[in-house]
Amino acid sequence: MRGNTARLAKIIAKTTGSEIAEIIPEKEYPMDIKTLSVLSKQEKENNTRPALKVSPDISGYDEIYLGTPVWWADMPMVVYSFLESQNFEGKTIHPFITHEGMGLSAIDRKIAEITGAKVAPALVMRGTLAQKADEQTQAQVDEWIKQN
Ligand SMILES: Cc1cc2nc3c(=O)[nH]c(=O)nc-3n(C[C@H](O)[C@H](O)[C@H](O)COP(=O)(O)O)c2cc1C
Repeated sequence: MRGNTARLAKIIAKTTGSEIAEIIPEKEYPMDIKTLSVLSKQEKENNTRPALKVSPDISGYDEIYLGTPVWWADMPMVVYSFLESQNFEGKTIHPFITHEGMGLSAIDRKIAEITGAKVAPALVMRGTLAQKADEQTQAQVDEWIKQN
């Protein structure tokens, strides 16, 4: 696991005592930012549902902390692949979102529409802050968990 959202996921998992799982696409995304930008934009424009190598099985869980970065004012299309591949009936999703200026981007509403699950207030954090994983990051996580 790498990246800002993964770092935040690890903090949340540790704080809440949750198990952690990663959505893994069949075809790994490129590290190079230019190549990633072109590919991810194409996926969004074509409303693609990339195939998943791992779609974490959430059937045994009632509370799910779902992390995603913001890509093009939306979730990466692999997150759509995941959300559409699982049954979220009767579950509560706690979204956490990392971004670089755009904020929530109505992602909580999109998750609710796709899954029909109860969606709790999202934790919205700058990727640069999540990356630091310091006391300030931990304090925001603690506050969010307390409020939920
Ligand atoms: C392809 C791509 C598109 C992005 N689009 C946005 C965007 O529309 N708005 C925004 O605030 N940040 C955007 N970002 C910044 C990411 O949301 C931010 O860096 C996030 O923390 C990345 O998380 P990660 O390291 O887990 O991938 C984009 C980043 C990438 C790579």
